[in-house]
Amino acid sequence: MTQPASKRQFKQATAAPAYVRHAKLKSWVAEVAALTKPDSIYWCDGSQEEYDRLCDEMVASGMLIKLNQKKRPGCFLARSDPDDVARMEDRTFVCSRVKEDAGPNNNWVAPDEMRSTLGKLFDGSMRGRTMYVIPFSMGPLGSHISHIGVELTDSPYVVVNMRLMTRIGRKVLDVLGDGGNFVPCVHSIGAPLAPGQKDAVWPSNKEHKYIVHYPETKEIWSFGSGYGGNALLGKKCLALRIASIMAREQGWLAEHMLILGIETPEKKKHYIAAAFPSACGKTNLAMLIPPKALSGWKVTTVGEDIAWVKPGKDGRLYAINPEAGAFGVAPGTSMETNPNCMAAVTRNTIFTNVAMTADGDVWWEGMTNEAPKELIDWQGDAWTPGCGRNAAHPNARFTVHSTQIPSIDPDWENPDGVPISAFLFGGRRATTVPLVAEALDWEHGVYMAATMASETTAAMVGQVGVVRRDPFAMLPFCGYHFGDYFQHWLEIGRGVKNPPRIFGVNWFRRDEQGKFMWPGFGENMRVLQWVVRRCEGGDNATQTPIGNIPRYEDLDWKGLEGFERIRFEKLMEIDNGQWGMELKDHAELFEKLKARLPKELDELRAQLAGAF
Ligand code: GTP
Ligand code: SPV
Ligand code: MN
Repeated sequence: MTQPASKRQFKQATAAPAYVRHAKLKSWVAEVAALTKPDSIYWCDGSQEEYDRLCDEMVASGMLIKLNQKKRPGCFLARSDPDDVARMEDRTFVCSRVKEDAGPNNNWVAPDEMRSTLGKLFDGSMRGRTMYVIPFSMGPLGSHISHIGVELTDSPYVVVNMRLMTRIGRKVLDVLGDGGNFVPCVHSIGAPLAPGQKDAVWPSNKEHKYIVHYPETKEIWSFGSGYGGNALLGKKCLALRIASIMAREQGWLAEHMLILGIETPEKKKHYIAAAFPSACGKTNLAMLIPPKALSGWKVTTVGEDIAWVKPGKDGRLYAINPEAGAFGVAPGTSMETNPNCMAAVTRNTIFTNVAMTADGDVWWEGMTNEAPKELIDWQGDAWTPGCGRNAAHPNARFTVHSTQIPSIDPDWENPDGVPISAFLFGGRRATTVPLVAEALDWEHGVYMAATMASETTAAMVGQVGVVRRDPFAMLPFCGYHFGDYFQHWLEIGRGVKNPPRIFGVNWFRRDEQGKFMWPGFGENMRVLQWVVRRCEGGDNATQTPIGNIPRYEDLDWKGLEGFERIRFEKLMEIDNGQWGMELKDHAELFEKLKARLPKELDELRAQLAGAF
C-alpha cells in the first residue's frame, strides 16, 4: 500500500542535519524517500568515524568480512551475488528526448516510458533499509573543472566505496552552499525487506536491472545492482556518460583515460593521458615503474580510469582526475607486474570477489606464480589448485584511496589540472595493430581513436575475447551519438594552439603460439620514452600509411637487449591483408554512424583504404 508522503512514519529521525542549507536538495531527498520508502534517511558526513561504523555494521551483517588485520590492516572482503559481478551494458540506457541524440552506441527508451517503468520499480524499493544521502565532488573541491553530485542509495557498501573513490560528505555541501548545482543520482539495490525478513549477504534484484541516464535533465537512476560501475554513480554514470554530455555543451572532454606524469633525465615533466577499454591496462600503465636500466626516468600517477580535459589559457589542454581512488582489477596484479599497486592495497582497502587464504589474507590469479594449497574462493567455497574453477572472479576488484598509491603525483589534486603532451589510445588486439604508431595530425589521431577496436573483457557481462570497435575506449560510456562526439573531438583540437600529439598503442599482440609478443607492464616505459621524445620534436620515426612508427634503433633497449630486431619487426608489422580487413570494419562502423559522422573522417577512411 502506498502511503502519502506526508503521513508516512519513518522508524528513525529523517530530518536533514542543521548544516544542510540547500532547500532544493532537501526537498528532492524527501521526494525520493516518499517514493522508495526507506525505514530511515542518513546524511553522510564523510568522516572516518562514519566509515568505520558502516564497515563494522557490514561485518556484523555478513556483507563484509574483516581480513587478517595483522596482514591487511583496515582491509575487508565483499562477496557479491554471482549474478552481480560486472557492468551490464545491455541494461544501461541513455534516455534522451530524441532517439537519434543517444546514437546507435546507446540503448534508448523514451524518457516518459522509462520514468513510468522505474517509478514502479523504485516504489517501496528501499523498504526495511536506510537511505544514505552521499554528497560527492568529482574533482578537487571547488576546482573550476569539478562537478558535484548527490547519490541516494540503500547500500552501505556503496557509501564506503564512494568515500574511497570520491570526495564525500559535509565539505561537499559547504561548496554546494544553498543553491549550487548538483547531479541527482538515485540508486537502489531493489531488494526491499519485509518486516523480520533475513537479508542476503549481497542483496540485489535478480529480475530487474536498469542503469539509466536522462541527458536533458542530467539525472541518473540505477536499479537492481550493487556492483561497481552500476552502483557507484559518480564513476561511469556521472564522470563519463553525463559528463561527456556536459563536456560537449561546455567545450571540454570527459574521457575513459588514465593520466600519468613522466620526468625525463633532463628533469622535464610531461603528462600523458591514455584511453584503453575496461581491463586493458590503464591502472597498470598509470602506476608503471620504469626498468632500472632506464635511469633518470620517473613515472607518477595522476589518475587511473577517468580524465576531464579542458582547454587552458595558454593554448594547451589541461586534465584533472575527477576521482580520488581506484576501483581496479585484481587478477594479474603482482609484485612483478605492478608493485605500486601491490603496495597501495596492503591496507585500508576493500576487496570485492577475490579469494581468501586460510589465514584471512587475499589471493587472486596471477598474484603469485603458485597458488596457495587451499583457499576460500570468491563465492565462499573451498578451493584447491586444479579444481577447475577460478579462485577469484576475473573481474574481482580492489577499492583504494589515491593517497595510498606510492607513485601518486604531487599535482594529482591540482584544481587547474596538469598540461597534456600526448593522448594514447589502445586496445587488446592479438593481431594487426603494431606496438605503437603516431598519428600524422589531430584529425588523423581522431580517426585512429574513432576506429580503434579491442577484445571484450570480464569487466562487463557477456562473452570475453570478442573483437569489437570501441571508439576512444568510450563505447559503453559516451552519453550521446558517437558521430557528434567525433565532431566534438575535431573541434576541441582545432580550438587550441598546442593540442597534444596522438598515438595508438597495443600491448597485446600475440605470436603464432598465442603468446604475448611484448613483455608489457614496466617495459611499456620504452614506448612512453619514445612518445616523449616525439613530443619534444625528436626525429626518431619513419612514416607508414597508418602513422609514424619507431624503427628498432629509435627505441632505448637498455636492459632489454635480448629483444631482437626480428621480433620487434614482427611486433611492428603492418600487414596489407589484415589492414584491408581492418579498413572494411572501419567502413562498417562509419556506416552505422553515418547520419552524424564528420565527413573528414570518412574522407580519411577512403584515403587509407586506397593504401591497402
Ligand atoms: P578498468 O578498471 O576496467 O577500466 O581497467 P584498466 O584499463 O585499468 O585495466 P588494468 O590496468 O586493471 O588491467 C587489466 C588486466 O590487463 C590485468 O589483468 C593486467 O594484469 C593486464 N595488463 C595490464 N597491462 C598489461 C600489459 O602491458 N601487458 C599485458 N600482457 N597485460 C597487461
Ligand atoms: C570499467 O569497467 O571500465 C571499470 C570498472 O573501470 S566499473 O566501475 O565497474 O565500471
Ligand atoms: Mn574503467
